[in-house]
Amino acid sequence: MAVQRRGNFKISDSNTTEKKIKRYNVHRQTSHSRAFIITLLLLTAICAVVSWLFLSFNDDITETLVSRWEALSQPRVFVVQCSEDYENHKRFPGCTPTKCGRAVSDNVVTKEEAQMLKRLAERGLSLGGSDGGASILDLHSGALSWGKKFVNIYRYFSAEINDVFTEDDFKLYRDVRGRIQRVIAETFGLDPTQMHLTKPTFFSRINSTGAKTTHDEYWHPHIDKVTYGSFDYTSLLYLTDYSVDFGGGRFIFMDPDGNRTVEPLSGRVSFFSSGSENLHRVEKVAWGTRYAITVSFTCDPDHAISDPILP
Ligand SMILES: *[C@@H]1O[C@H](CO)[C@@H](O)[C@H](O)[C@H]1NC(C)=O
Ligand SMILES: *[C@@H]1O[C@H](CO)[C@@H](O)[C@H](O)[C@H]1NC(C)=O
Repeated sequence: MAVQRRGNFKISDSNTTEKKIKRYNVHRQTSHSRAFIITLLLLTAICAVVSWLFLSFNDDITETLVSRWEALSQPRVFVVQCSEDYENHKRFPGCTPTKCGRAVSDNVVTKEEAQMLKRLAERGLSLGGSDGGASILDLHSGALSWGKKFVNIYRYFSAEINDVFTEDDFKLYRDVRGRIQRVIAETFGLDPTQMHLTKPTFFSRINSTGAKTTHDEYWHPHIDKVTYGSFDYTSLLYLTDYSVDFGGGRFIFMDPDGNRTVEPLSGRVSFFSSGSENLHRVEKVAWGTRYAITVSFTCDPDHAISDPILP
């Protein structure tokens, strides 16, 4: 355009130059639009490849319920219809699930508390540990992974135990489990005094080392109420961060219409009713170390266990 307008004032002998410029411009325009189309095609191809890669690595995941990058200021609740599992057990009004679902909260436990609990887990688990990738420490029963089996820390390490754990550690543990109990009660409309801690309730440490016994195989889909009849509500307190401290290891609810994940974050509490409405599994840990605490509750006083106390 600019060249043409200028051309009006040009003397005749520059006409050929003008034509050349025009032709050059036309040529430049077509090669511009060609470059544009090629870029567009390339971008589309790159997008297709990226989404194909993304989908093929994530084909098991339909939805991320809570990502590691979020910080929830109040519980995020997902209601799911209760399964019939609870009908095969004695019912306890004010506790037995009538409203089922899953929820995640980031403000039940602080980062500092999670850090302290992680150190407690590290100290305890350093006494033993599984030969495979998954070790547990149960402060209630004293069970600690040990090679291919378990030992009782209170018996085996009775002399050292007071050097490893302090009264403050146990107080924090009791305090945190009380808060988890209250948030579950509030979320599902229960009477917290009707809920009882049940077993197993334990610390877990998982890394990418392969399983040596079935105790190490944490990744199989399961239903807590089927595995442990006493469970009514299951909770998990995460002590390390997904994608920073470890890869893989996401928690997955396996619903008929898709898999929904919770990404662990230090201090994050995830809880759910324990029946078949919440079939779940843990993705295999690919790298790093994942620490968590499983805290389980029952409505049946016959299955209640008491808080651990330092011997
Ligand atoms: C995983 O932890 C075990 C101890 O339970 C340890 O022997 C092993 O070296 C660790 N594996 C990796 C890959 O860090
Ligand atoms: C959920 O993931 C499993 C594997 O973990 C897969 O076999 C299944 O097809 C997935 N479910 C849906 C509905 O996509």
